Amino acid sequence: MSHKSINPHLHLDTLAVRMAEDKSQFGENSEALYLTSSFVQPDAATAARRFGGQEEGYIYSRFTNPTVASMEKRLAALEGTEACIGTASGMGAILLMCMGLLKAGDHVVCSRSVFGSTIKLIASEFGKFGVESTFVSQTDIAQWQAAIKPNTRLLFAETPTNPLTEVCDVRALADIAHAAGAWLAVDNCFCSPALSQPVKLGADLVIHSGTKYLDGQGRVVAGAICCSQKLVDEKFMPVMRSAGISFSPFNAWVVLKGKET
Ligand SMILES: Cc1ncc(COP(=O)(O)O)c(C=O)c1O
Repeated sequence: MSHKSINPHLHLDTLAVRMAEDKSQFGENSEALYLTSSFVQPDAATAARRFGGQEEGYIYSRFTNPTVASMEKRLAALEGTEACIGTASGMGAILLMCMGLLKAGDHVVCSRSVFGSTIKLIASEFGKFGVESTFVSQTDIAQWQAAIKPNTRLLFAETPTNPLTEVCDVRALADIAHAAGAWLAVDNCFCSPALSQPVKLGADLVIHSGTKYLDGQGRVVAGAICCSQKLVDEKFMPVMRSAGISFSPFNAWVVLKGKET
């Protein structure tokens, strides 16, 4: 049976082990590991169409790889999003999100309890490129509302936070974001989709450090953004093609394999 025929509405436990890209012509039971930098093209014209985006097909593993695609498909199914884009690490996912969504002059409202590197990335690194940020109490909705400005493009929360385990009201934050014409992104690293699916509560993007519970065994560094296909196609894939925050196929395969018992 091709994995493509799996119903994305099946139970989470089933999706977590079965959802993936098509099997190869060999019909392997395990997910195939395509440890390759690039893909042989049938002819120059096909290669040109694939590179130009007029035809589907694997080209180069900086931005397209079947093992990575399997991981993305599985995580999207678990989070209940249309699409997912894998990244080299959780911080790589947050970097890709900021590069794809923000420009100089935009403003971000972020919980002040999120993972320390996230605060540094948004405040210091993106600050250097003219992105403004305001950090607010994770739990005080009034502070999030008061921080909104005309140029606010993104609200970012992590729930529960690392390391304080503070939670936030995702639905209330989604309402504030959408009323301001902004996106809400939620770092779901600690709960994983097994315990929380932020898009069901109104979030637009879900961030993962797959390094934590998605791998679950401390083997690899991994990351992902789960969101709409439109955001992947228009905002994130163009950055991924040029920036190379790529998810290693080997690491994607390790996360896909989970724990065999
Ligand atoms: C909540 C959270 N988000 C993001 C990250 C960053 O992930 P990575 O270490 O995979 O870059 C971490 C790492 O500890 C984290 O705890």
